Amino acid sequence: MKPVKMQKKQKKSPALIMGIESSCDETAVAIVSEEKEILANIILTQLEEHKPYGGVVPEIAARSHIDHLNHLVREALEKANIELDDLSAIAVTSGPGLIGGVMVGLMTAKSIALAKGLPLISVNHLEGHALSIRLTEEVQFPYLLLLVSGGHCQLLIVKGVGDYQRLGTTIDDAAGEAFDKTAKILGLNYPGGPAVEKAALNGKANRFKFPRPLKGKPGSNFSFSGLKTAVLRARDQVVEENGGHLTTQDICDLAASFQEALSDSIIDRVKKGIEHYLEQGTDNKVLVVAGGVAANSVIKEKLASLCTNYDFNVKAPPISLCTDNGAMIAWAGVEKYHLKEFSGLEIGAKARWPLDPDAPPAIGAGVKA
Ligand code: KG4
Ligand code: ZN
Repeated sequence: MKPVKMQKKQKKSPALIMGIESSCDETAVAIVSEEKEILANIILTQLEEHKPYGGVVPEIAARSHIDHLNHLVREALEKANIELDDLSAIAVTSGPGLIGGVMVGLMTAKSIALAKGLPLISVNHLEGHALSIRLTEEVQFPYLLLLVSGGHCQLLIVKGVGDYQRLGTTIDDAAGEAFDKTAKILGLNYPGGPAVEKAALNGKANRFKFPRPLKGKPGSNFSFSGLKTAVLRARDQVVEENGGHLTTQDICDLAASFQEALSDSIIDRVKKGIEHYLEQGTDNKVLVVAGGVAANSVIKEKLASLCTNYDFNVKAPPISLCTDNGAMIAWAGVEKYHLKEFSGLEIGAKARWPLDPDAPPAIGAGVKA
């Protein structure tokens, strides 16, 4: 980075916002204009570093963010062909997430804001996901949002920037987490979602009768840990019957039956959410899906057919903006920049930060609420 020069910024047009994301296992920096142009969107995944452990190790994640964030900031500026002085503001994920990583991003953003006299915009990671569709499409408020990732599983009504009503959240594991844990049980690769989906292509979805958690229950909460335990029990039973091993066909059948049960459960929960949304008299029939699990074809197909029944449009950002990235943080920054929602340098990192502070915490959900 260039030497620090303290100076006050002139208002630039169009406004250019840098977004920094470091709340989980992606170190990401993007630069987005208020005219919806993505000038840079650099994402460095730590996948290989966490692979041996079958999940994200917070300390490894934080150290890796420290190692890479500065040069990603430089890379993003080079890609966008601008300098820090050309920015209008700096947006950063300040929660929820793994606290060490969030602190790394926040400290970096604060340093740039202080050194360059730029407004600092604190972004809730979930709000980044929630608003990202408005970067790529003309979607008006309100809309229904299904956020399904490795860390989160929530159904929300997005009423406006900073205005959310949570209809449901997971009471235990997130959907992506359930895929990852199931993959581990079946001896498949991490991340588990793509591996389970691939194995399921050759499997029989009706071989194992797994539970559809919370199906038919009121409300739109989610639960997946019982399903994961059911897969574990079924695997152990097959191993016992097979004389100590699992065949490839067994793995594929377990994967397909799990995916079928999980997607049925999600669809039931979203159906309840759609009905709730319509009861509020809303006529903008749009369901936005975001998060890594939105890449799953079976879930996508079932959501599409559910939405057809209710005359809803399903929209999802392109997959590179669906999974964790800096552009969604920069875009949330643009939305907040227009509302002049700036933060002081005293703000802290938050491990837990619900989008809807009035929603009751779900027992066991931790940061996923
Ligand atoms: O949004 P994301 O990149 O990161 C966060 O967790 O915030 O989501 C990653 C999650 C992982 O749990 C991964 O297994 C899951 O998304 N995933 C999938 C698929 N692709 C990724 N789950 C099911 N099917 C997929 N095709
Ligand atoms: Zn995320």
